[in-house]
Amino acid sequence: MRFSEEFAAALYQVLKDDLPKEEIQQLIEKPKHAEHGDLAFPCFSLAKIQRMAPQSIAEQLSRAVQSPLFEKVEAAGGYVNAFLDKKYVTKLVLEEVMAKKEQYGTLHIGKGEVIAIDMSSPNIAKPFSMGHLRSTVIGQSLALLLAKGGYRPVKINHLGDWGTQFGKLIAAYKKWGDEQKVKEQPIKELLALYVKFHDEAERNPELEAQGRQWFKRLEDGDQEAVVLWEWFREESLKDFSRIYQLLNIEFDSYAGEAFYNDKMDRIVRRLEEKGLLTESEQAQVVLLAEEELPPCLIKKSDGATLYATRDLAAAFYRKETYHFAKSLYVVGGEQRLHFKQLTSVLRRMGESWADDLIHIPFGMMRKDGKKMSTRKGQVVLLEEVLQESIALAKKNIELKNPGLANKEEVARQVGVGAIVFNDLKNYRLNNIDFSLEDILRFEGETGPYVQYTHARACSILRKAGFHAEEKRTIVLSGEKEWEAVSLMMSFPEAIEKAINDFDPSRIAKHTIQLAQAFNKYYAEVKVLEEDEQQLSRLAFVSAVAQLLKEGLALLGIEAPDEM
Ligand code: ARG
Repeated sequence: MRFSEEFAAALYQVLKDDLPKEEIQQLIEKPKHAEHGDLAFPCFSLAKIQRMAPQSIAEQLSRAVQSPLFEKVEAAGGYVNAFLDKKYVTKLVLEEVMAKKEQYGTLHIGKGEVIAIDMSSPNIAKPFSMGHLRSTVIGQSLALLLAKGGYRPVKINHLGDWGTQFGKLIAAYKKWGDEQKVKEQPIKELLALYVKFHDEAERNPELEAQGRQWFKRLEDGDQEAVVLWEWFREESLKDFSRIYQLLNIEFDSYAGEAFYNDKMDRIVRRLEEKGLLTESEQAQVVLLAEEELPPCLIKKSDGATLYATRDLAAAFYRKETYHFAKSLYVVGGEQRLHFKQLTSVLRRMGESWADDLIHIPFGMMRKDGKKMSTRKGQVVLLEEVLQESIALAKKNIELKNPGLANKEEVARQVGVGAIVFNDLKNYRLNNIDFSLEDILRFEGETGPYVQYTHARACSILRKAGFHAEEKRTIVLSGEKEWEAVSLMMSFPEAIEKAINDFDPSRIAKHTIQLAQAFNKYYAEVKVLEEDEQQLSRLAFVSAVAQLLKEGLALLGIEAPDEM
């Protein structure tokens, strides 16, 4: 709550002997109803200490609080209610937004701490799923928010690039593969090979054995196997990187599961030394009965390591390499158990940082009430969904603004932005309904709506020949602007909350509200009228545009100046 510090300071002047400043600060609330002012201080706990009626304390305090920030301070129902002076606060806030520019809302809560973010992490030779998209956009927004908060995010794409399935894939490729086809459409082709392998294996069990042999050869470093595996990985990455390009996302590391091949022995030895490994059905496991969790599988009977073993090695590697303060895993809710086991095993190993691993789960994307699948027969490749959205956005632009200069680029920004916004406006644990038509609407709570509002604000400024660089004094009553100004005021707070709860939807909601407040304002006020407030109004419009852009930017969405 902006200005609550000043309110606390004013109260503290009177309450010095009764309450420490921090406690006063903590007690201050934001009233639900406007008639109770902008800030409120409840006097009930104080009443107990002083053995007085809360309302009489409130009355005393309200007379004593003095600050130019408040136009009125009154006592009601045991609260001290403070009303901000709209004119003065509007001036302060707008001047601050204009002076700080992109730095407005920047926080220093992170103190440069490193936060590792495991995000996206699709599986090689398999389609990039909706779940992977959710992980990618949530992870990206968290990285942007954390950076804004003064942390140092490290984005890690933990590619699923190892496992017995690669033995099968090599076997299938050797039998039926076509190099040219794989090069043309890697994921489609590799997936087809994998599916064919399974179909054929039902009739011909011999195939499974071949798959196992190839995987063994791969693990032993056999030239032919390794070359093929590397090639599959490379071709798959080409497919994935087209999606990352559309989304405008880069990673700090692509160290996937295979990266840990030579880093697991050490971990397994450590588990042994600590006496944590137990043999169970010929496999090595860590029993986690005390935590009421199923055993964590570390090594199979044939010596093969598992998903969890790799994640253990990855956790150590990240700790030792990045010295993270927190290590986030943006992975769907289905893997809850896995991450609980991971933390539990680390705790048993005596690692003090075990609880710094945080699973950030999310719900699923649904279409027509069913989980949206990008698998098997009906391979809806995600890239096709993105391209379809871009094409629809382009159609919209052709209709609304046929003369627009860089249509292709704007269509990408709008089409992709729509999908990202639809994802991030929902609290991440909720399931989301996916309807391209709805998310591309220019009205309602959509990405295009916010982008369009931003472009409209920009066009007003262009028309007026406004330059944000010029210094100007704000002379607005603040009445009509108040809703938007209050939102500007609470922007830094929204960022802090989004960071603390790992919840980008706070920023999405805040940004929609700002767009709505501005559109309401624009319908009521003649912004361009040439009177003594014109420049102040334009400064207000420019501040709105800036924060809409910044809000979208924190979600990983671009904001064209014209659309
Ligand atoms: N590749 C996995 C999957 O698609 C996700 C990996 C998540 N990250 C991790 N460190 N386990 O399900």
